Amino acid sequence: MRKKVTKAIFPVAGMGTRFLPATKSVPKEIMTLVDRPLVQYAIDEARAAGIKEFIFVTSRGKGALEDYFDHAPFLEQQLRKSGKLDLLEALKATNMESGAIAYIRQHRALGLGHAVWCARRLIGNEPFAVMLPDDVIAAETPCLEQMIDAYQETGGNMVAAMEVPADKASSYGILDVDEDMGSVVSVKGMVEKPEAGKAPSNLAVIGRYILSPSVLSNLNKMKSGAGGEIQLTDAIAQDIGTENTVYGYRFRGQRFDCGSKAGFLQATVAFALARDDLRDDLLRYLQEMVQLDKAAQ
Ligand code: G1P
Repeated sequence: MRKKVTKAIFPVAGMGTRFLPATKSVPKEIMTLVDRPLVQYAIDEARAAGIKEFIFVTSRGKGALEDYFDHAPFLEQQLRKSGKLDLLEALKATNMESGAIAYIRQHRALGLGHAVWCARRLIGNEPFAVMLPDDVIAAETPCLEQMIDAYQETGGNMVAAMEVPADKASSYGILDVDEDMGSVVSVKGMVEKPEAGKAPSNLAVIGRYILSPSVLSNLNKMKSGAGGEIQLTDAIAQDIGTENTVYGYRFRGQRFDCGSKAGFLQATVAFALARDDLRDDLLRYLQEMVQLDKAAQ
């Protein structure tokens, strides 16, 4: 039996400049997808996969995140008094067991690899997950849970993977596939943000990882890579061919890039259409919009 994966790192130190001015005073992770902040989707996915300890790597200006996961005694009392039990229930998902959540500051924006390394003392010598809340994945079985199942077989390091169009490969970490076994691939190389035309495949890394603590040791001596940043991809790639070699996992589900405005809007529509209380009205509105658009052409 492998060691259970019970800790997850959530790198949330980014400034979210693509969403300015909104992110001037609101952390990107608190921005709302239907009626829940982005980060709640990642937390729910982590919980479903059996994660018990949640480690946020934050930066200045992210205080709202800490408040979000705190209890709100006054608000809760008011809701209880006025009998709004459904709202009280909705708040439950935001509460963390005492001691289950930790915040670490990344003092300088040195890259994703550095952000993960900042949490090294809280991880110790056990496998751990990394979840990038910008990547929102709608799936029947939550993506991290699928990966943890597959990881029981493979061990090593596992990254979520998805085919992307060739002209988008330079926005991702890209896998050089050794053996393709269907949902799992073994990997013989990984390149972070390859130059146009130089990607070894179109199988991209998506923001879910199950990593061996060896990656943290690799990060100890990591030099900056693509974009002048310390890259997580490079530290994982160092484990290829070792006892902790690397696998890609083609998850079942739809991924939204909520780090981009178009992706965020698409996710908003998709998640709203999946809700019984919103679907009919929204669908009607979208149909009207499409018709108007057609008529105008
Ligand atoms: C990060 C990783 C990259 C991965 C991507 C997935 O890049 O460095 O390997 O493909 O997330 O969303 P970022 O989007 O932070 O530039």
